[in-house]
Amino acid sequence: LSILLLNGPNLNLLGKREPEVYGRETLQDVVKRLEKVMQEWDGHLEHCQSNHEGDLIDAIHRAKGVHNGIIINPGAFTHYSYAIRDALAAVEIPTIEVHISNVHKREEFRHTSVIAPVVIGQIVGLGIDGYEWALRSLAARVQSK
Ligand code: DQA
Repeated sequence: LSILLLNGPNLNLLGKREPEVYGRETLQDVVKRLEKVMQEWDGHLEHCQSNHEGDLIDAIHRAKGVHNGIIINPGAFTHYSYAIRDALAAVEIPTIEVHISNVHKREEFRHTSVIAPVVIGQIVGLGIDGYEWALRSLAARVQSK
């Protein structure tokens, strides 16, 4: 089991950024938690956060043949990046989309995900727990194959 965790723009500020929306835990806390969960299967987790669209696309391309699942929180790119969507469609790696906040309770522009049609499913509004559920779901899928 080898999973790529991808976080998009502004998620490096997790814990400090609008804590009433995104909570007080940092991205480092998220990675530590997922690494701990990964030990259940002796799997490998690679983490990449970038504020740049092209870096996220490059990481998706590199994942081909290396990782058997992707967990992605594309941040605001969720709402308009056809390039990230196309990259995910191109590599055909099972992917789960995570949003920390409940985007459907928020501004209208957050209600649309251009990524959603190319992922297995979305986990929305469960805070950083969503990342753990995404990992557990991907692990179960990969291992049942
Ligand atoms: C987010 C929701 C997006 O609308 C926002 O731009 C983010 C974070 C979330 O995790 O709730 O950066 O993806």
